[in-house]
Amino acid sequence: MEKQLESLKLAFSEELNLAGAPEDLEPMRVKYLGRKGALTGILRQMGSLDPEERPRIGSLSNELKVFMEEALAKKLEGLQTHSVFKGIDVTLPGRAPRKGSIHIINQVVRELEDIFLSLGFNIASGPEVEDDYHNFEALNIPEHHPARDMQDTFYFTSDVLLRTHTSPVQIRVMESSGLPVRIIAPGKVYRCDSDVSHTPMFHQIEGLWVEEGITFRHLKGVLNEFIRKLFGPDIPLRFRPSFFPFTEPSAEVDMGCIICKGKGCRVCKNSGWLEILGCGMVDPEVYKYVDIDPETVTGFAFGLGVERVAMLKYGIDDIRMFFENDLRFLKQFS
Ligand code: PHE
Repeated sequence: MEKQLESLKLAFSEELNLAGAPEDLEPMRVKYLGRKGALTGILRQMGSLDPEERPRIGSLSNELKVFMEEALAKKLEGLQTHSVFKGIDVTLPGRAPRKGSIHIINQVVRELEDIFLSLGFNIASGPEVEDDYHNFEALNIPEHHPARDMQDTFYFTSDVLLRTHTSPVQIRVMESSGLPVRIIAPGKVYRCDSDVSHTPMFHQIEGLWVEEGITFRHLKGVLNEFIRKLFGPDIPLRFRPSFFPFTEPSAEVDMGCIICKGKGCRVCKNSGWLEILGCGMVDPEVYKYVDIDPETVTGFAFGLGVERVAMLKYGIDDIRMFFENDLRFLKQFS
């Protein structure tokens, strides 16, 4: 009888080895452990045993029963995991999650914001889908001004458009918040234009300070401080007379070329100067649109191209690189 138990164990183990799917196991359990199973069959013969032999054979068959039950359970677990991971080598090292980083343009926006925050400006914003009134009319841009031309402006309807500059935020802020106003407004702007130095979408930072007694000297002071903080203490600035419909007087501001230090190079087209922003004193005409009495306050505004700053800062000569989403380019700034 002991022999019978041993050979049953062997047969069971061999069969279990061959089982390849969880469905194979239930028939095996019935075959060996079921009511009419092989082990049960052997136990039935216990009665014919010598009474002295019974306890030993009894415990041996019990051991075999436990062995079979445990072996079946273990096998089932193995087969189930196996079918989930079929075709996957679970011993290979995992793939590390890739870390994202802030886009270079947003990094520069934040740096510029921090500088102006430290100079006492607050951050304002306005919609990218604008109306003609805020983008042009209230900024004293007359109806037949070339800036309104279809070639530059993306129109949805004759009245609704993608803002072509951040200056409409000047109007929105003066409409809604009381005086004094000292804000910057960073954001996306859109113009129908594309080459090495133009993309149809780019970023500007608008600045506006309106308060009693603000003069052009405040404008120069703020911009000087800004350039010093951004590019270092000994970068010269130069103000050239210019024209914008919403500022009077207006100026374009150049800074000494940071590449050649003013000696003349390809980037500054041998002039030693780089154009960096447009600015001026808020035109009294503009105050009329926002119900501010030009006799009581004065103010200045400026508008600065963020991509331009980023290109100078990092020596990038094609603006389109920023928006092509080439990770080899973007990763250099993470
Ligand atoms: N909005 C002007 C532009 O986009 C820049 C500017 C802003 C000029 C504020 C003067 C004052 O070109």
